[in-house]
Amino acid sequence: MGGMEPDPTESLLVRAAGGRPGTRPPVWFMRQAGRSLPEYRALRTGTAMLDACRDPELVTEITLQPVRRHGVDAAIFFSDIVLPLAAVGVGVDIVAGVGPVVEKPVAEAADIDRLRPLERDDVPYVTEAVQALVRELGATPLIGFAGAPFTLASYLVEGGPSRDHAKTKTLMHDRPDLWHALLGRLAAISREYLRVQIEAGAAAVQLFDSWAGTLSLADYEEFVLPHSRAVLEPLAGLVPRIHFGVGTGELLAAMRTAGADVVGVDWRLPLNEAARRLGPGSVVQGNLDPALLGADWQVLEAQVRRIVAEGRTAAGHIFNLGHGVPPDTDPDVLTRIVDLLKSPPA
Ligand code: CP3
Repeated sequence: MGGMEPDPTESLLVRAAGGRPGTRPPVWFMRQAGRSLPEYRALRTGTAMLDACRDPELVTEITLQPVRRHGVDAAIFFSDIVLPLAAVGVGVDIVAGVGPVVEKPVAEAADIDRLRPLERDDVPYVTEAVQALVRELGATPLIGFAGAPFTLASYLVEGGPSRDHAKTKTLMHDRPDLWHALLGRLAAISREYLRVQIEAGAAAVQLFDSWAGTLSLADYEEFVLPHSRAVLEPLAGLVPRIHFGVGTGELLAAMRTAGADVVGVDWRLPLNEAARRLGPGSVVQGNLDPALLGADWQVLEAQVRRIVAEGRTAAGHIFNLGHGVPPDTDPDVLTRIVDLLKSPPA
């Protein structure tokens, strides 16, 4: 019996995350499930994004699509960072080609008071889908995820995507009391949302602070880090915790102290430099530039080999892109990258 059960905790991904690397880096891609796949576009026709996220059968199928097609070493739960906000009653929708749009942006204390805690029963469809996926995936780990308090706050305060996050930064500095109240509420929601996924069987979690790179280190440490830590620290020892943002080269060491077992790195910093900044024993994830996925294969192959070599200087390395798969990506290129990583070293 024992040892015959498929066990994601012995997977390449979970071992690399714990600083126990195997003979090659495990690989998955942020946004591997989604519009780059024709089979995804076919399934999504006629269903709004958040409605799709609330349909366990659809979520299960969409999450499995890239695992079947590419042979990646992990699945990422198909959902969105704003789903738990919608589940506690925030008026938010995902507009195709735009992103999350918030009906009534947060500006006052009363808006924050309405952000009630998330309970497991608010997202029964998440528990159901994670449990179904864990059964289907066997030894392949499922990565659960949530949005970090800052990135969620940026959507709530701006009302939608923003280039400069000016309203968010203004609120942070002008009304620190409101800011910390807001991020405290969001941290509680994200922590509970990750806990639901872990209890249902997710083998790892990723906390996306996609837009934290817009901040100075000083602002990050004062206004954001304590709240990201409130998400990640209570989950210590349960499953590996990956923490990622774009343009966070100056924030990496601070992000690690939030309670990250693995720090995601975008394409701007080579992984050896990222590992140096993170310090001894650090595990990195990344960091192929998604803008190069359309380049000649010779170019891509050289980039993949460079990244694998640079990743060897860390205590562990999970291969990924520096950000998500662009919708116009030829999915065969992703499969070819997985095949290259799985082939014996040349
Ligand atoms: O495969 C995976 O990575 C899992 C799926 C996933 C989605 N959103 C599905 C999605 C994940 C991990 C997310 C997280 C997410 N959502 C983040 C953090 C990751 C990152 O990219 O930095 C952020 C910032 C969001 C907010 C969001 N939701 C954006 C910016 C968009 C894109 C808008 C667009 O249309 O270009 C969304 C919508 C979204 N989330 C889509 C998908 C597949 C596209 C909607 C569709 O297919 O109709």
